Parts: sequence; C-alpha cells; structure tokens
Amino acid sequence: MNGIARLALFFALGYGGTCATRQLLLGDAGRGRNVFHSQKCILCHSVNSEGGRVGPDLAQMVDQGFTPYRMAALLWNHAPTMWRNLEQNGIARPNLTRQQAADLFAYFYAIRCFERPGDEGRGKRVFESNGCARCHGIDAPVSSGVAPARSWQSLDHPILLAQQMWSHPRAGMVTAFDQSGTPFPQLSAQDLTDMLAYLRSVLNRGENGYFVPGSPEEGGELFVTKGCAACHQGSHAMEGRPTRYTLNDFAAAMWNHPQRTAPDSVPISVEEMRRLVGYLLSIQFFEERGDAERGKLLFRKKRCVACHEVPSSGAPGRQTMAGQMTSYDMMAALWKHGPKMNAAMRRKKIRWPRFDAAEMADVTAYLHGYEFKRRQPANLR
Ligand code: HEC
Ligand code: HEC
Ligand code: HEC
Ligand code: HEC
Repeated sequence: MNGIARLALFFALGYGGTCATRQLLLGDAGRGRNVFHSQKCILCHSVNSEGGRVGPDLAQMVDQGFTPYRMAALLWNHAPTMWRNLEQNGIARPNLTRQQAADLFAYFYAIRCFERPGDEGRGKRVFESNGCARCHGIDAPVSSGVAPARSWQSLDHPILLAQQMWSHPRAGMVTAFDQSGTPFPQLSAQDLTDMLAYLRSVLNRGENGYFVPGSPEEGGELFVTKGCAACHQGSHAMEGRPTRYTLNDFAAAMWNHPQRTAPDSVPISVEEMRRLVGYLLSIQFFEERGDAERGKLLFRKKRCVACHEVPSSGAPGRQTMAGQMTSYDMMAALWKHGPKMNAAMRRKKIRWPRFDAAEMADVTAYLHGYEFKRRQPANLR
C-alpha cells in the first residue's frame, strides 16, 4: 500500500461522522465509461440520450443522493426485469467484477454534471462584474499581453478553465492580481458554468462539455508529486471529508485556489488535471455505515433466511460472504448469482424482495459481519 492509500485509510478509519466506516475501492470514471460499452449496458441504456432505449436513461437516476448503496439497491430492484430483457434480446448476461462495479459508479457519478445548462445572461454579468472583461476582452485584447477569451485554450468545461489558470502558476494572472491589490475573484461552480455558456455563445462556439475524470490511482500519485499532499494533510486532508463534490464544484475549488498555494506551485497539464480530479472524486466515497443489527432483522423479514440459513437449499451461508461484502461486491454478486437466486425464489414462491439504499447498506453490513461497535484505529484511541 502506498503512502497515499495508507493516509486515506487512516483518515477513513478515523473519521467519526455518521456515515463512513472505511474507504471503498477507487472507481475510475474513464474506465467505467468503457465498461458501460463493453458490458453492453449501452445496448439498452442511454446516458444523456446516447445509447439504447429499452431501459431508462441512467443519467436520470443520478441525483444529489446518489451513493454506491443507492446504485446497488436500484440494480437489485430492477434486476429481474433486466434479466428478462437480456434473455428476450439474446444478450449474454454481463459478468461484472467488483472493480468494474466501482468504475461504473464513478462514471455515473461524474456524468451527472455534464448537462447542467449554463445561463448566458448570468454568465455575462459574472464576466463583467469580476473584472475579466476589463483585462481580457472577448474578441480582441484590451490590455497588452493579456489573451482575449477567444484565444483561451478551452471554453469547454469549468475544470479546463481552472486548469488553464494552474498552467501559468503565479505568472500571468495571479501576479496581475497581486500587483493590482484586488483580491483574486472567487467564483462558484454555477458562475463558471454560466460564464462559459456566455463566452461560447458570443464567440459562436459549439459546446463540448465532456470531461471524463482520469485514473484515481495515478491522480493519487500526482497529488503527492505536485505538492498538494504537502499542504493537504492533517486538518487540510482531503480524505475523509464528507463532501459530495461534483466536477464543477472541484472546478470552482481549483479556480479559487491560487490565493492558497505557495508561490512555487507547479503547473498542471490537462491530462494531469483529469487524473487529479479522478482522484479527488473517488476519495469522497466511503462505505456508508450500515447497521448490522438492522440488517440481521431485514435478512429475516425479506425472507433471505429461507435459503441462506438452510444449507440444503444450495445458497451460500453468511460465513462465505463474511469480510468481503461491500456495495460493489453486492452489485457484482447480483449479476453473477442473481438469476439462479431468482429462479430458486420462484420455485419457493418468494417474491423478489426490494430494497432502499439504507436497507441495502444494513443487509450488506450484516453479511459482511461488521462488528456492532464503532471501530477506531489503535493510534487514534
Ligand atoms: C437487455 C437490456 C438491458 C441491459 C443489457 C442492461 N439493462 Fe439495466 N435495465 C434494463 C431495463 C428494462 C430496466 C428497467 C427495469 C424495470 O423497470 O424494473 C433496467 C434498469 C436498470 C437500472 C435501474 C435504473 C433506475 O433508474 O431505476 C440500473 C441501475 C441498470 N439497469 C444498470 C445496468 C447496467 C450497469 C448494465 C450493464 C452492466 C445494464 N443495466 C444492462 C435493461 C437492460
Ligand atoms: C487584472 C487583470 C486581469 C483580470 C481582472 C483577469 N485576468 Fe485572467 N489573466 C490576466 C493575465 C495577465 C493573464 C496571463 C496572460 C495570459 O495568459 O493572457 C491571465 C490569464 C488568464 C487565463 C489563461 C489564458 C490562457 O491562455 O491560458 C484565463 C483562462 C483567465 N485569465 C481567465 C480570467 C477570468 C475568467 C477572469 C475573471 C474572473 C479573469 N481572467 C480576470 C489578467 C487578468
Ligand atoms: C500551499 C498549500 C496548498 C497546496 C500546495 C495545495 N493546496 Fe489545496 N488548499 C489549500 C488550503 C489552505 C485550502 C482551503 C482549506 C481546506 O480546504 O482545507 C485548499 C483547498 C483545496 C480544495 C477545496 C477543498 C474543499 O473542501 O473545498 C481543493 C479541491 C484543493 N485544495 C486541491 C488541491 C490540489 C489538487 C493541489 C495540488 C495540485 C493543492 N490543492 C495544493 C492549500 C494548498
Ligand atoms: C429461494 C432461495 C433464496 C432466497 C430467498 C435468497 N437467496 Fe440469495 N442466493 C440463493 C442461491 C441459490 C444463491 C447462489 C446462486 C449461485 O450459485 O449462482 C444465492 C446467492 C446470493 C448472494 C451471492 C453470494 C456470493 O457468494 O457472492 C447474495 C449476496 C445473496 N444471495 C443475497 C441474498 C439476500 C440479501 C436475500 C434476501 C433479500 C437472498 N439472497 C434471498 C438463494 C436464495
């Protein structure tokens, strides 16, 4: 385990909030996008209207409360209909690994920010009231040596705007602000989105708001080599923050960051920004704290015990799942074992049980065998 992973785990375990117990597997949204294609989800599902129409557009399910357990619960509830559809259409059943489940989750989580539309009128006010127009102009330079918006590298996504700022650290704009004595303009996620919508419209550019976060593992390494980890430790550590940042929230954080960085901060390329954001997104997800006691009751109430506590039924006992059930394992297990389980339920005339996200967390906690007491690492006691 490298330093970052250790650090992440340390804070994940130490975090005493209401819903985190330990860090989940890191999901890679870029890889998740490939899984969405290679595992054929795209034949039936679309994401922002690209793809099949047999099942629902999966961008729709991703609201503020989207968590790995919510995804596991949705999958579970809809699985029998989905399997029937697979059979009817002669499509082989996907066989997801837990890593692929994590990657898909990261992808779905990231896409929810792709289509938030910008408000051009508001964007014009942002551009003007924050002084951008005063130094940059839109089409032609208004002060010498300062590029007009037309020649900015990208107007495609707020993250790419933040990246352009980091690519000239302390040179250029930040120095200009330091010298003029005005504070660096603090912009919100919505400000950035609206401003870009405005600039694209006056410059007559099409929208290409597509930004897929990169590999979280590589992003974790960059977080160290770019010097972020030097500041972001202790009370500034990113790991363990109970935030739910979208891509645009990260863009705003990175845009607003210069006033905080040391003068010798290093530039970040587009590719590096993708990875850093992939890392920052992925460390937000913790295994929510399911309640194993409640899970035990649910296991009975939903009649899971009718098979899973009866060895002759062919269903694996709880001990075979102990220590290895997380939300992602639940999704993987569902694709792998679900149809056989469904058939067994039909024989026993048990209706396919349904779960909400909290129930899914509770049952998984029970199957995993969490101790009921809150755990703390020895060095924090
Ligand atoms: C053969 C077509 C088909 C394939 C392939 C397919 N699905 Fe589905 N899926 C459906 C249908 C149909 C539904 C709606 C079922 C219902 O109404 O109960 C659905 C529902 C879902 C839901 C619940 C969505 C919601 O908003 O409630 C999720 C999540 C989901 N599928 C994920 C996936 C993933 C991930 C894959 C690929 C690994 C996949 N599906 C592959 C047909 C398919
Ligand atoms: C005090 C003058 C000043 C103000 C006000 C200002 N900038 Fe800048 N900006 C600069 C200078 C100087 C540079 C560095 C030279 C360059 O790259 O054009 C720069 C660079 C940039 C770049 C990088 C351009 C590139 O080619 O990579 C972006 C993007 C940018 N500014 C956006 C903005 C936005 C958005 C605002 C308003 C919130 C703003 N600037 C306000 C002076 C300013
Ligand atoms: C010189 C110290 C320093 C360095 C280097 C640094 N940061 Fe920060 N950063 C801060 C401080 C201070 C804050 C605001 C306080 C906080 O959120 O802990 C902050 C805030 C942030 C936030 C917003 C966090 C939130 O919860 O809103 C993000 C995202 C971030 N930094 C990412 C990075 C990345 C990525 C790097 C490396 C490329 C980096 N930082 C390098 C000091 C630093
Ligand atoms: C009618 C019998 C039956 C019922 C009721 C039943 N299961 Fe199962 N379950 C099975 C069988 C059989 C398998 C193994 C399928 C296989 O081998 O592919 C299985 C497998 C599983 C697995 C995968 C185990 C692994 O090793 O990865 C999980 C998780 C699971 N069940 C959870 C549940 C939950 C939660 C409930 C209650 C909501 C439930 N089951 C109710 C029969 C049942």
